Amino acid sequence: MITKRLLFIGTMAMSALLAVAFTLEVSEAADPNAFNRLMKPPSKRNPPPAKDGIHDPESVGAEALQPPKEAFSAMPKGKSGNYVDWVQALADQKIAPRFDRLDPEAKPILMDLNIVREVKGSMPNVVYPHKQHTEWLDCSNCHPAIFIPQKGANQISMAAILLGEKCGVCHGKVAFPVSECRRCHSQPKGKAATTKAEAGAAAAQPAAQPAATAGQP
Ligand code: HEC
Ligand code: HEC
Ligand code: HEC
Repeated sequence: MITKRLLFIGTMAMSALLAVAFTLEVSEAADPNAFNRLMKPPSKRNPPPAKDGIHDPESVGAEALQPPKEAFSAMPKGKSGNYVDWVQALADQKIAPRFDRLDPEAKPILMDLNIVREVKGSMPNVVYPHKQHTEWLDCSNCHPAIFIPQKGANQISMAAILLGEKCGVCHGKVAFPVSECRRCHSQPKGKAATTKAEAGAAAAQPAAQPAATAGQP
């Protein structure tokens, strides 16, 4: 009788151990920081496709892809994300967005218009530059699905951005991450036209251009 009961308890303990082993394995796979490239030490940044946890290491395709480290070696360095300053890379003509990939006649529509969003509290104001965005994005990438094309018509907050909405649709995913506060919050309070982006806009294209193209998106 006693031995039988001990055996039963023994089996229970065994399955409990198995259950623990199982949950440990699951929670390791679900570790959010394992996927967060912002948390990685320098030696673990931009791993080759077969080791990045995104591509299938069994696939021959993963080996055929150029490793990011090799591709990025000639690029101007950035401070976060994948550690390339892509705006500078475009300015230096290290990359050339292919507007004409589907239509050889297609031309980029560039627009040099800064939108300043005043921020309550002590953070500098946000300067949203159309120029750097339209150098490789189409108006329809943002208008009208993400932003209504009208200054002040959109409610934007850090909470929304961190949830992957508004600017966060791209920033933190395919463009520099939210940790780079001063790249967006670039205009000191009470001082107009002081940022690099704004100096560019001062010498901008005719003011009529945005109005003329506004209907387009
Ligand atoms: C990366 C996203 C993005 C792209 C691409 C983009 N815009 Fe915008 N646009 C914005 C944001 C953000 C605002 C500001 C909205 C606000 O303040 O609520 C804006 C505002 C505008 C406005 C209103 C300006 C004003 O003073 O009221 C117009 C017009 C406009 N965009 C046209 C365009 C055109 C034309 C293109 C393509 C050449 C374009 N946008 C590409 C994000 C974008
Ligand atoms: C991709 C651009 C971007 C980055 C990066 C960014 N912000 Fe913002 N931030 C915004 C925009 C846009 C707003 C909304 C401004 C408005 O009210 O129209 C905002 C608003 C804010 C506000 C006002 C309150 C709120 O939540 O709306 C604070 C405070 C703030 N940001 C702090 C920060 C800090 C701190 C960082 C860095 C950790 C940061 N931001 C990084 C774009 C950015
Ligand atoms: C559709 C995608 C998309 C959206 C939405 C978007 N951006 Fe960007 N943004 C980019 C890309 C792509 C770049 C260039 C690559 C990079 O710098 O990582 C960029 C670059 C920038 C730069 C750098 C300019 C420079 O001179 O270095 C600023 C500032 C910026 N974005 C602010 C914003 C703000 C503020 C918002 C929201 C109002 C926003 N962006 C929304 C894609 C986007």
